[in-house]
Amino acid sequence: MRLDKFICRCTELTRSEAKKLLKQGEVRVSGEVIKDPGFQVYPESEVTLFDNRLSFEQARYYMLYKPQDCICSNIDELYPSVLHFLDVDRAFDLHIAGRLDADTTGLILITDDGQWSHQITSPKKSCDKRYRVQTSKDIPESAIQAFAAGVQLQNESKLTRPATLQILAPREALLTISEGKYHQVKRMFAAIGNRVVGLHREQIGDIELDAELEPGQWRPLTGAEIASVNA
Ligand code: URA
Repeated sequence: MRLDKFICRCTELTRSEAKKLLKQGEVRVSGEVIKDPGFQVYPESEVTLFDNRLSFEQARYYMLYKPQDCICSNIDELYPSVLHFLDVDRAFDLHIAGRLDADTTGLILITDDGQWSHQITSPKKSCDKRYRVQTSKDIPESAIQAFAAGVQLQNESKLTRPATLQILAPREALLTISEGKYHQVKRMFAAIGNRVVGLHREQIGDIELDAELEPGQWRPLTGAEIASVNA
C-alpha cells in the first residue's frame, strides 16, 4: 500500500495533509525519513509520524443480507439498526456503504474503510447497483427507453442518469442504476406512473449477494470482492 494511504488509514488526516507532512520530512519508515507518498509499506511496517508509531488496524469488510424492518443507520430509530445482525466486535464502529429503505431487502456492504465506501457511494464514481423490483401495475416496454434516457424526479434539478431496465414478468424487472438518490428506484417508477411494492438489491459493482446467505446472515468479503471496488 502507498505510504500516504497508510497514513490516512491510521489517522484522521486527508491525503493532501499526509503528503504535506511527508514533504516536510515528518514521516519515517523503519527509522528513515521518507518523502515519497507512493513508497510501498505493509500493515506491519514501522511507520512514525512526529516520532509516534502509527498502528495499522486492518479494515473490516462484510456483506449482509438485509431483511425487512431494520434500518441502515448506526442508531436505532423506528426500526432497529441492521448492525444488530452483525455479531462482531465493535459492530457499531462500522458504517454501511449505500443505504436501503426499511422495507427494502438484499445486499448491504459494511466496513470501517471510509475511502473504500466512498468509491461506492460517491455520485462521481458511478458505481452500478442492481435491484429486483416488483410493481403494482404492469411495466410497459416504453419504460426501458424512459429509464435509459433518464426520468425527471420530483424536487431534482437533473434527469436521472441512464439506467438499464430488464423486464422479467409483467410486474417484475431488474433495474441497474449508477446513482443513489433518496428512494431513487421508488421515485423512478412513480415518475412513470407505477408503484414499487417489492424491492431487493442483488448487486453493488461486481459484488453479488451470496446465494448461501439467508435474510439477517452475513459473511466477510473475500479479497477479490474488496479489491473489485478500487479496481
Ligand atoms: N431505491 C429505493 O427507492 N429504495 C431503496 O432502498 C434503494 C433504492
